[in-house]
Amino acid sequence: MKYYIKTFGCQMNFNDSERLRGILRSMGYEPAQSWEEADLILLNTCTIREKPDQKVYSHLGEYKKIKEKKPTALIGVCGCLAQRMGEELAHKAPVVDLMFSSYNMHQLPELISQAQAGYRAIAILEEPPEDEDKLWDFPTVRDNQFCAYVTVMKGCDKNCTYCVVPKTRGRQRSRGLESILEEVRELVQGGVREVHLLGQNVTAWGQDIGLPFEELLYRVAEVPGVERVRFTTGHPKDMTERIARAMGDIPQICEHIHLPLQAGSDRILGLMDRGYVKEEYLEKVQMLREYVKGITFSTDIIVGFPTETEEDFEETLDVLRRVRFEQVFSFKYSPRPDTPAYSMEGQVKEEVKSERMTRLLELQKSIIGDIARSYQNTEQELLLESYEGGKLMGRTRTNRWASLRGEESLLGKVVRAKVTDSRAFSMECELLEVVR
Ligand code: SAH
Ligand code: SF4
Ligand code: F3S
Repeated sequence: MKYYIKTFGCQMNFNDSERLRGILRSMGYEPAQSWEEADLILLNTCTIREKPDQKVYSHLGEYKKIKEKKPTALIGVCGCLAQRMGEELAHKAPVVDLMFSSYNMHQLPELISQAQAGYRAIAILEEPPEDEDKLWDFPTVRDNQFCAYVTVMKGCDKNCTYCVVPKTRGRQRSRGLESILEEVRELVQGGVREVHLLGQNVTAWGQDIGLPFEELLYRVAEVPGVERVRFTTGHPKDMTERIARAMGDIPQICEHIHLPLQAGSDRILGLMDRGYVKEEYLEKVQMLREYVKGITFSTDIIVGFPTETEEDFEETLDVLRRVRFEQVFSFKYSPRPDTPAYSMEGQVKEEVKSERMTRLLELQKSIIGDIARSYQNTEQELLLESYEGGKLMGRTRTNRWASLRGEESLLGKVVRAKVTDSRAFSMECELLEVVR
């Protein structure tokens, strides 16, 4: 039996798919090269904006052709759209044989047997079940041998007025420290060198189990063999001085942080209910720069939130100019059903959103051009994670991709390299020495 998983959305969904692959492997399934040869097709969905929703329906339209050739093939939908839509999705898409969400991925084996027996296996729960921690008993199946995502927290207790995540992923649940450390130890034994801790609000980890996030950082970095640690996503509100100090103290923690700003205007930040103002955000950036030498930043921006004026938008551009992010992920505001912002007055016109987005991208292009130049001729540490056609690819500690000519045997090594050609979206290096 073969499976095919199509994943949309964020890194957490990506890691959920790695775990689904682990569950399927334990059931004897093997990966298919394409959906056409699969016995089970799963769509792990995202519903953060309207676009990903539409993609799911168009993919379902394509995948249903499999049933003409192979009537026993099963099609499943999981993830955030499944949780948000529930029965309605099953109704809209009769081709779906099974449905579940991030709450009950561990029930996949039972759902598959029900579907095989000819029932429609729809299990969308109102609340995460008591036994959801069973999920951690299944190992993951990953493509990247050296850098691994580890989900440490589920859900989110913030209530940003534009966001569906608290509805699709539920309240904040921190994974226990021991369970995380056990996974990290296993990963390292399997050759992993970089551990990337994941949660929608990872800096809030531990709040519900009485532990501070920095404790997790120290403990993960202590596991012998962990060369590098990253984490995503930090929330500016939970970004404390203690976390910044830990980041500076722990040599394994990379000098980069993704710290979503969303907007630069205090009025818009208030309407979003983000829990900080522009000046506080800038202070956190300054604090991180003091504790973590050479740290770089990336961010998320929403353009055209309801009532956003030209002056509000200028505040966002001002933060971009001042922080000089290495990467900016920008999104046009997309109204999501059942969120407070959906029914706010003053929705911004599509043309205005597009025009502001263009300006934002222009500005960021010039900033990243300058940043790229500043890497020229510098020495960087790379962890080489992939190899193709005589070239190795790796990331700097500051999270910039770089390529290097060399032997495949260097895969998985931490090396020192000199930057020979640095451009906005690519960087070439020359090997200086293999460090570890
Ligand atoms: N937990 C993270 C973000 C998760 S969603 C945080 O708090 O920052 C990833 C990104 O999608 C968000 O940072 C935001 O920029 C964007 N996003 C979320 N809801 C959106 C919406 N309704 N319209 C447009 N972008 C949205
Ligand atoms: Fe959504 Fe806000 Fe939670 Fe991020 S912090 S997942 S944007 S509600
Ligand atoms: Fe999308 Fe769900 Fe992630 S809505 S962004 S897949 S948490």
